[in-house]
Amino acid sequence: MNPDLAKQTAKRRTFAIISHPDAGKTTLTEKLLLYSGMIHTAGMVRGSKGRKMAASDWMSMEQERGISITASAMQFAYKDVVINILDTPGHQDFSEDTYRTITAADCVIMVIDAAKGVEKQTRKLFEVCRQRRIPILTFINKMDMPGRDPLDLMDELENLLQIHTFAYNWPIGAGRDFCGVYDRLEKKCLFFTKTATGGAEKADVEVTTLDDPKILEKIGPAELEKTKEELSLLDVAGNAFNVQDFLEGHVTPVFFASALTNFGVEPFFDAFIHLAPPPQARIADGLTGKEVPIDPIETPFSAYIFKIQSNMDKRHRDSLAFMRICSGKFERDLIVKHHRLGKEIRLSRPHSMFSGERTTLDEAYPGDVVGVINPGVFAIGDTISIKGGFNFKPLPRFQPEIFAKISPKDVGKRKAFDKGVKQLTGEGAIQMLRPYHEGDDVIYAGVGQLQFEVMQYRLQDEYGVETQLTSLPYTCSSWIEGDVKLFQKSYNSILMKDANDKPMVLFVSQWEKQYSIKQNANLKFFDLDQP
Ligand code: G4P
Repeated sequence: MNPDLAKQTAKRRTFAIISHPDAGKTTLTEKLLLYSGMIHTAGMVRGSKGRKMAASDWMSMEQERGISITASAMQFAYKDVVINILDTPGHQDFSEDTYRTITAADCVIMVIDAAKGVEKQTRKLFEVCRQRRIPILTFINKMDMPGRDPLDLMDELENLLQIHTFAYNWPIGAGRDFCGVYDRLEKKCLFFTKTATGGAEKADVEVTTLDDPKILEKIGPAELEKTKEELSLLDVAGNAFNVQDFLEGHVTPVFFASALTNFGVEPFFDAFIHLAPPPQARIADGLTGKEVPIDPIETPFSAYIFKIQSNMDKRHRDSLAFMRICSGKFERDLIVKHHRLGKEIRLSRPHSMFSGERTTLDEAYPGDVVGVINPGVFAIGDTISIKGGFNFKPLPRFQPEIFAKISPKDVGKRKAFDKGVKQLTGEGAIQMLRPYHEGDDVIYAGVGQLQFEVMQYRLQDEYGVETQLTSLPYTCSSWIEGDVKLFQKSYNSILMKDANDKPMVLFVSQWEKQYSIKQNANLKFFDLDQP
């Protein structure tokens, strides 16, 4: 065993933050940078971010290539661990990218707005984590604002998400009176005060007990009594915390805090680095169909591509493939097997990313994310390794629901258009479906409207091609298997081929789809499992 590899692997904490937009993911990420010493004043990340919900804003943000959206992973040291935060775009139309990114995480932080509780986007993302048995820590944010009752929130987590909860800490006061948290394992209070700059700098913290007169003065006797009662209720009725249950995804430790004021933030990070697991063995599919574990230390270098992004930096104008290292040490110019293509390739010019800036990388370890220039050889989901003989599990794919034709306004731009479309569909947000029958047109398929807007914007911005989009009436799809020549097409449907040449039918309605399935009993129709 390589002791350096084992030591470096044990130090890695690779995770993603999931939340509904606006719950505070960006603010929390920024505070992690603040507490790790990467930045000295908070406000920088949000400052470059602008208001992010509208498509046009996302696009201007994209141009800046800031931390939040395009940097696939950020790496930095926090105390004695190496943090890898995988970026998960917040907008629901980018969920495919987010789902794939979650597969690269060893652990997830779920941020919940204390006033809103579990929201739609969080539920969807949570399901993906559950399916993959990814351990989840819950961060209940915005405790400095009027919010829901903490016991209610715990209840909602248990009922809506069907996961056991363990209150790792408990809030002292709420809204304007939120002044600290009670650490239930250590049985101590952490009492916070804002610095003159508010949340821009670390909050002052004092370790004390619930009987400290400062607490009584801050929250008053009734609230103090309520907090004490809740704590004894949790002790009596709640379960003890079992780390194994957390690692297997059965229970989520819950933390109450305010990312904005920094109250409760540092104890959360400290608990996080203690609880979050370093990279573990991953289960892959062996060539004989049997599952094989890929141990991060025992197995020589292996990785898989979970994200592809073109033109991240206008100065380079190329496509980067991001891989998650699953085992072994990565070194520059390493020669590896590309399992799908069955050939050897050299991993030259590897990069890590921070704030959109490329940094050349000489070595990396399990849990790390490395970006390599992709001269068209990598596709999402590709496995690469030294040893060969297995493939990492396929990444989540999605059943498209929105369909359109896109063409260049100026036919003279066809070449640039084709190049752009090839690169952008390679990123996996939009699929290109080719006609099954001669005479039909290429159709683009996606799961969200914003994906199309972004594609058009990027074709113009990055490839100089203005495009025209024609929406199509199809609303659902299905792959078919069997003798496709026998397929009896209903009036409105159309037969296409997906990127892997698999036949796929598009329908205008669910009714038509069901009718078609009945009419073609000799063919097998199948959809993807939706998370
Ligand atoms: P997101 O990445 O999950 O979408 O959320 P983000 O961190 O951008 O936070 C969304 C809004 O919520 C921001 O306000 C942010 O300041 C605020 N926020 C985050 N954490 C807390 C918290 O603990 N307490 C309170 N009170 N607010 C919090 P904004 O008005 O959209 O932006 P800004 O003008 O404050 O920068």
